[in-house]
Amino acid sequence: MKTGIYPGSFDPITLGHLDIIKRAACVVDKLIIGVLNNSAKKSLFTPEERVAIIRKTTSDIPNVEVESFNGLLVDFADQKQAHIIVRGLRAISDFEYELQIAQTNRKVNPKVDTMFFTTSEEYSYISSSIVKEYAMYGGDVSQFVTPYVETCLKAKIKENR
Ligand code: PNS
Repeated sequence: MKTGIYPGSFDPITLGHLDIIKRAACVVDKLIIGVLNNSAKKSLFTPEERVAIIRKTTSDIPNVEVESFNGLLVDFADQKQAHIIVRGLRAISDFEYELQIAQTNRKVNPKVDTMFFTTSEEYSYISSSIVKEYAMYGGDVSQFVTPYVETCLKAKIKENR
């Protein structure tokens, strides 16, 4: 049983994330989406909201599970008996940071390796931060997130006003 973990903030999940999830779910038996629950990092959606949004967004992918975690990613991987960490690479600018994390994680826990997926071209420029910023100024984000996520974004922004 090959279990992979796709960790991230997912604040909120974008079509770029969804693309990686669908592709990664084809190469592992089980893919656990690990939503970082880090109170030090300011997020728009609470971890519980992010988990619920991702569950709804991935409900048609049978081998995907969604959970939040805090602490070290490699410890969460151990706890879940996962040996693969999945990450997406958009541009060369992602590479240095991702390489550093992957190498550190493997040093700390050699049983866990990182598998990178290059994002599909059409999503290579999308990030949760840009989607949030765009939505906050009333921009149309329908090309970047699912209709459900768009609804959640609009509701959250209204709630915060
Ligand atoms: O979507 P993000 O914010 O780029 O994801 C970053 C994430 C969650 C993969 C990274 O911050 C992480 O693994 N955090 C958990 C704490 C940890 O293990 N840190 C060590 C690597 S910096």
